[in-house]
Amino acid sequence: MTVRLSTHFLKAGDAAVAAAARCLRDGGLVAFPTETVYGLGADAGNAEAIARLYRAKGRPSFNPLIAHVGDLESARQIASFNPQALALAEAFWPGPLTLVLPKAPGCAVADLATAGLDSVAIRVPSHPVARAILRAFGGAVVAPSANLSGHVSPTTAAHVKADLDGRIDLIVDGGPVAVGVESTIVGCLDAPMLLRPGGLPRAEIERVLGRKLADVIDEADADAKPLAPGMLVSHYAPRTKVRLDADRLEPGEALLAFGPVAMPGAEAASAVLNLSERGDLNEAAAHLFSYLRALDASGARGIAVMPVPQHDLGEAINDRLRRAAVPRD
Ligand code: TXA
Ligand code: MG
Repeated sequence: MTVRLSTHFLKAGDAAVAAAARCLRDGGLVAFPTETVYGLGADAGNAEAIARLYRAKGRPSFNPLIAHVGDLESARQIASFNPQALALAEAFWPGPLTLVLPKAPGCAVADLATAGLDSVAIRVPSHPVARAILRAFGGAVVAPSANLSGHVSPTTAAHVKADLDGRIDLIVDGGPVAVGVESTIVGCLDAPMLLRPGGLPRAEIERVLGRKLADVIDEADADAKPLAPGMLVSHYAPRTKVRLDADRLEPGEALLAFGPVAMPGAEAASAVLNLSERGDLNEAAAHLFSYLRALDASGARGIAVMPVPQHDLGEAINDRLRRAAVPRD
């Protein structure tokens, strides 16, 4: 049984930052904006707080968390950086890149947060509110996306409230986020490997590395060992059935469009939301999760999704859409 808490809401500002830091120090759970999606933070060194965090999300505790820190200096207390990892951190932090690295000796992140692995996921967010909270708290904060396990990630404080009201201590409202999909995760254990496409396009990472990123074997492959264990195939899941690459609309369907709409049946759509009328992938990423939530709540029989190109942020958008479309019972 989960005890209902009263969840406090504060607009981002000095008072909210101070309250967030105090709450984290007391072992509490704080939702806050990052540039990618809202995170649900707990003190990375407090196993009890982390256990509460898994409970609040309804998340399996074998799914490890990302440690958020204020700068590279703090990251180096937690993880060991090889030259490639260092080059990526210097090029892209603060920003939407997570590195999976060997734990440093004396790593202060609780074993529960890393699911007992020898590696740790770590990132330096760029959102000013996230940075202010990390600075005021002074330590590492583990933060998964601030949604119930299995739901799409929250890009506004209202999304967080819809999922977690009564289950966490504090929500800091910093307005809608800028990127809209989660960070790109790169494993730097040996050859750099793309574990999750995300808010930093693959091509930018490959440019800094001077080489192609290895791809993780898809975990839909029965024998593949999941390297980013959170990437369960049906992770990003609206309740309504999602149909990809639609070139016509079926009766009763809502349309998630991209670019100009010229599709048989579109005039009869039960609802239409356009990720980006001008075909801009950054704009599309910023809209993706809130539009999926809105169409899911619209009562449509299904959600038809127009094709989205695979380049730049399109890789992350298509990854999340594929997961949203996996059949469920
Ligand atoms: O943009 C983001 O990354 C957001 C914001 C809040 O920072 N956070 C986020 O966290 O998306 P979460 O918990 O929803 O996703 C973290 C992913 C999971 O797929 C998890 O399996 C993977 O990171 N991960 C964490 N530690 C790992 C490790 N040691 N090895 C491989 N994958 C790891
Ligand atoms: Mg998540």
